[in-house]
Amino acid sequence: MSATLEVKNLKLKYNAFGPEILKGISFSVQPNDFFAIIGPSGAGKSSLIRCINRLVEPTSGEVFLNNKNVTKLGRKELRHARRDMGMIFQEFNLVERMSVIDNVLSGRLGYVSSIKSLFRLYLKSDIQDALELLNKVGLIDHVDKRADQLSGGQRQRVGIARALIQKPKLLLLDEPTSSLDPKIGKEVMGIIRTLSKEVGVPVLCNIHHVEHALEFSNRLIGIQDGVKEFDGPTSEVKKSDLERIYEMEVL
Ligand SMILES: Nc1ncnc2c1ncn2[C@@H]1O[C@H](COP(=O)(O)OP(=O)(O)O)[C@@H](O)[C@H]1O
Ligand SMILES: [Mg+2]
Repeated sequence: MSATLEVKNLKLKYNAFGPEILKGISFSVQPNDFFAIIGPSGAGKSSLIRCINRLVEPTSGEVFLNNKNVTKLGRKELRHARRDMGMIFQEFNLVERMSVIDNVLSGRLGYVSSIKSLFRLYLKSDIQDALELLNKVGLIDHVDKRADQLSGGQRQRVGIARALIQKPKLLLLDEPTSSLDPKIGKEVMGIIRTLSKEVGVPVLCNIHHVEHALEFSNRLIGIQDGVKEFDGPTSEVKKSDLERIYEMEVL
């Protein structure tokens, strides 16, 4: 079985004279993985996720998505590769004054021509897919509401539907529950797990809360100050590993 994502010796500096934020990170995500990246605030988790779809350009190292070297792609090819990586953000990143269904359909923008997107001419099949996804995330009664009328948990469920309508080969998540209260956060993680399994897409997810990583992931890496401190099955994480990753007593 070949890896969906292969990250090799990834390094990042935001500027030439600044500190090295990622200091040579390598790992691979398999087709069935719910893969977590854990580590304290400032460890480099968001930077790492953003280097994978090149929202941030890594200084060196390589990223392979289904054996294609993403780090070498030109502009146009990169745009295509980005469609294959659905992203779910910490702060939801919805267009607040747009309806729920339009927010979901905006996930198709990478596929329609810009003139069509200007007039919001979506294919019937896209609209059908959007409705189906909104049903699956439990928002079918809210399709015409404006995004700013929704609760945090509902907004993130829109974010999930928007990422999935891209039909991604990989889901990238940057602390999708950290803006939500713990109970809602857990529900959202549950929805992500259920739907990613259903459509068969692997998940790579930054998680600040260790409990969520332990509950939802099958494999994880821990990073501390840009260095990988642990890489293995979630079932093998020991208390001493967590202490090393977080450099403090974990109760
Ligand atoms: N755009 C940026 N420019 C310069 N430094 C940044 C930028 N984004 C993040 N950093 C720095 O990179 C380090 C890692 O940040 P980040 O990747 O956000 O960590 P995490 O997501 O684990 O909290 C921090 O020291 C942060 O200040
Ligand atoms: Mg972050």
